[in-house]
Amino acid sequence: MLSQKELEPNSYPGHIAIMMDGNGRWATKRGLPRTAGHLAGMETMRRIIQYSNELGIKHLTLYAFSSENWKRPQQEVDYILSLPNKFLDTKTQNELDRNNVKISFIGDLSKFSTELLQTISNIEERTKNNNGMTVNFALNYGGKTEIINAAKKLLTDGINPDQIDQEIFENYLYTKGQPTPDLIIRTSGERRLSNFLLWQSANAELWFTDTLWPDFSKELLIKAINDFKERKTKKT
Ligand code: IPE
Ligand code: IPE
Ligand code: MG
Repeated sequence: MLSQKELEPNSYPGHIAIMMDGNGRWATKRGLPRTAGHLAGMETMRRIIQYSNELGIKHLTLYAFSSENWKRPQQEVDYILSLPNKFLDTKTQNELDRNNVKISFIGDLSKFSTELLQTISNIEERTKNNNGMTVNFALNYGGKTEIINAAKKLLTDGINPDQIDQEIFENYLYTKGQPTPDLIIRTSGERRLSNFLLWQSANAELWFTDTLWPDFSKELLIKAINDFKERKTKKT
């Protein structure tokens, strides 16, 4: 098993984004309802946030619900969208605060219930001055919509087309002010971007594993980071 000592802190990916995929298949394989997979996935997410923090990752972006996921059965959608409230219980909120973790949400949040919006704004407000790791939860996130919304806002702000460059455009994305991901991990054997971070993934390394998200582990996270390091060393 790899240990933290085997990682050189200086060559860490500063920003890791994870497509947490395979919850449904994990549950089905066990004869359980898909919702059980989402619950197990939430517990894995809790552990991975903690490990990432311990490993010194500065930014972690987690794809939790895509703009396409509304097409799933209503009961499954309702269950997934009830998880942020479950996850952000008082104990977890205290823990995140104690670990100096800042939480933010990216995506089109306008469709959510008042209750979920309240949870989101409470936790963002509560952790806004933390300056350890930043965790972005991508909820109702879609890369194409993000880019279209940025274009619309540029127009309504009356920005002169000649002035628009990459830096200005990035200021209109949900991820404004944050570094782009160095490494994107997708679990469950799928090898698609599924509308995730289309702009921000331009130069990211992509890393795939067949492991289903609920079974993702610290060892696999370290393996992904070490593979990333190896690719970077080869490049230089
Ligand atoms: C990922 O797991 C979680 C969400 C998309 C919310 P899935 O629910 O996509 O699981 P599979 O891919 O069907 O196994
Ligand atoms: C992508 O997974 C979204 C999340 C991980 C939240 P999906 O399972 O929804 O994506 P597709 O349908 O396989 O492309
Ligand atoms: Mg899936």
